[in-house]
Amino acid sequence: MSETPVGIDGIELWSGKLRLDLPNTFAPVRDEDPAKYTKGLGVEHSSLPDVYEDIVTMGANAAKQLLDRKGLTPNDIGRIDVATESAFDNSKPVSTYIAGCLEEVYEEDFHHANKGERKFACVSGTQSIDDAYNWIRAGRHRGRAALVIATDTALYERGDPGEATQGAGAVAMIIDTDPDVVALSTEQGFGSADETDFLKPNQQFPSVDGKRSMQVYLARMREALQDYESVAGDTHPDDFAYVPFHTPFPGMVRKAALLGFRHISRDTDAESALASEIGNQPRESEFVSREAYEEAIREYMDELKETDTYREWYDDAIDPTVDVARMVGNWYTGSVHVARLSTLIAAADMNRDLAGEKLLLASYGSGAQAEIHAETVQSGWREAITPVNIDEQLEARYDLSFEEYERVHDVHNHEKDIEVEAFTTPEAEFVFTGWGRMSERRYEYIE
Ligand code: CAA
Repeated sequence: MSETPVGIDGIELWSGKLRLDLPNTFAPVRDEDPAKYTKGLGVEHSSLPDVYEDIVTMGANAAKQLLDRKGLTPNDIGRIDVATESAFDNSKPVSTYIAGCLEEVYEEDFHHANKGERKFACVSGTQSIDDAYNWIRAGRHRGRAALVIATDTALYERGDPGEATQGAGAVAMIIDTDPDVVALSTEQGFGSADETDFLKPNQQFPSVDGKRSMQVYLARMREALQDYESVAGDTHPDDFAYVPFHTPFPGMVRKAALLGFRHISRDTDAESALASEIGNQPRESEFVSREAYEEAIREYMDELKETDTYREWYDDAIDPTVDVARMVGNWYTGSVHVARLSTLIAAADMNRDLAGEKLLLASYGSGAQAEIHAETVQSGWREAITPVNIDEQLEARYDLSFEEYERVHDVHNHEKDIEVEAFTTPEAEFVFTGWGRMSERRYEYIE
């Protein structure tokens, strides 16, 4: 008898309620060509938090939408894990704040749920899902589901090149048996090394070596894919309907996808079919030096990306995964989960029958670690995804002028103490109300 599947049973998202138009509002002030954003980085807007929003409100709002939609209450949840790299407390986890918020609106409480906070840059959302999967598989869940929330305000120091890739939002997911959306498996691959590409040593805004961070992303992804193949067997481009990547900006995914395609097509009929057009992939053993081999690889990749085969694969398997990222920016821990959701929404819009097909999820966190695993889409995916109101949320965002953006950045800067009026009016949501006697952050639900 086959094992009961375990995986993602529901997904919801909460976007920061403000938006910064990168090509039209940000680029002109920086005296930059808007095409750097639209074509180079591949981004249109960043979602940013209004003055009453933070990682707790966004996480709690996403979680409440999800619990309500699925008809779940606190007694159904045995575990709450929050993945974030924007935490404001070294001891008290964000999950306690989020549980506290939710307890304001439900009659039951989460006093018997195991709560925690996961940290490994952007990959910790995926690690939290892994933890929930293991907890259920180990039989410690007492029939209850896990609530996983990935929530971040991805802000950079003003003037840092990373400012072009900011974002803010939360993704809430229910991990359970017999899931509606995707089933997970034990097959996963890791690429992990001690790196200093992006870090926040007790500081709010990251220290980033941007160009190097991109190289580290690609190197760890390649290791993770090799490790994945060592447990799951060789891969082929046709094995996966979509490949959602961690998306700091869509231009990064463009680079990663090309490397990924080269890897998964090697020694397959896909490589042979391309050989008459661009030759076979260079093999290191055929070259006298590493430099000559790398040069040949670069030439092969330049030609590969222009082929119809690659372009069609990219348009089908990759492009839909970045639809939402283009409109919201980097949500750090939530980013790869936004990519999965973006994929499923695009598939539903195209009326594609995805049940039983596989996604290859490629997560990444600076510092650095990549994780690659496959997910099998379940029969309830369409009904589970259709109610997610991303378009409405993105449409309703307040469009900031540059001067307003500067104030929003300042009000979320922990070093500054300034008052800024909210740009939007909260309705049926949790809001931040100020600090309490022990410097704890305080929240309330606005009807
Ligand atoms: N028309 C078309 N394209 C243009 C253009 C124009 N007028 N002007 C520039 N471009 C292209 C550039 O050629 C470049 O593309 P390629 O890399 O393909 O050549 C792209 O637009 C970006 O331009 P720059 O490289 O000049 O941009 P930059 O120097 O200002 O910074 C960055 C880019 C390094 C990514 C910076 O935004 C950054 O530091 N971001 C934060 C770090 C990050 O996101 N790293 C990604 C990997 S790490 C990770 O994934 C973890 C995480 O979430 C942070």
